[in-house]
Amino acid sequence: MKILAISGSARHASTNTALLRALQAIAPEDITLDVFNGVGDLPVFSPDLEGSNLPDSVGAFLAMVSQSDGLLISSPEYVRSIPGGLKNAIDWLVSGDQVVGKPIALVHASHRGDDMLSILRTVLSTISSNFNRDLFFRLPVMKETPDAILETVKAPANRHLAEQFLRDFAFFCRNHGDSGPNSVTL
Ligand SMILES: Cc1cc2nc3c(=O)[nH]c(=O)nc-3n(C[C@H](O)[C@H](O)[C@H](O)COP(=O)(O)O)c2cc1C
Repeated sequence: MKILAISGSARHASTNTALLRALQAIAPEDITLDVFNGVGDLPVFSPDLEGSNLPDSVGAFLAMVSQSDGLLISSPEYVRSIPGGLKNAIDWLVSGDQVVGKPIALVHASHRGDDMLSILRTVLSTISSNFNRDLFFRLPVMKETPDAILETVKAPANRHLAEQFLRDFAFFCRNHGDSGPNSVTL
């Protein structure tokens, strides 16, 4: 089971990236979790750059999405919405077939950010017929360091919840991957 975990933050010491890396560290053996923290490296989306003009960084990102069995996304809230970098990354996915039917679930590293989560849920259920609103792993670690976040995730009670979340998502990916065309017409 190959999961791609996308961070919506371009910040070096991002708590969302750190939470995804902590999940990577405790993931059960049969789950490979790769963390993508390169939304800041993707150029601004334009349909003019698709096809033969596709930038290398975008091509690499699309390949990672395509080769994954499912996506986890963890993002901060910026101005009560999705950070521009993450929305831009999602825009790059819209016209291809990489994300149609792709199992997706959310992770969140803060007790705040519910406006962003609501908007992101709307966006993800538009681009994939297999966005799962019910699977959600939230750990309120805003302002903590990456090392502290790893320790928090490794604490037995949190680790149990985190492992169960990853197992539940892997189960969902196994049962809902490649289930057909997007149910929403753009
Ligand atoms: C430009 C900017 C806008 C923000 N807007 C909000 C906001 O509207 N609501 C909120 O709760 N936090 C807001 N924040 C705080 C971040 O969501 C918060 O610090 C988050 O934990 C950062 O995630 P990161 O550590 O992964 O970068 C904002 C931060 C920045 C830099």
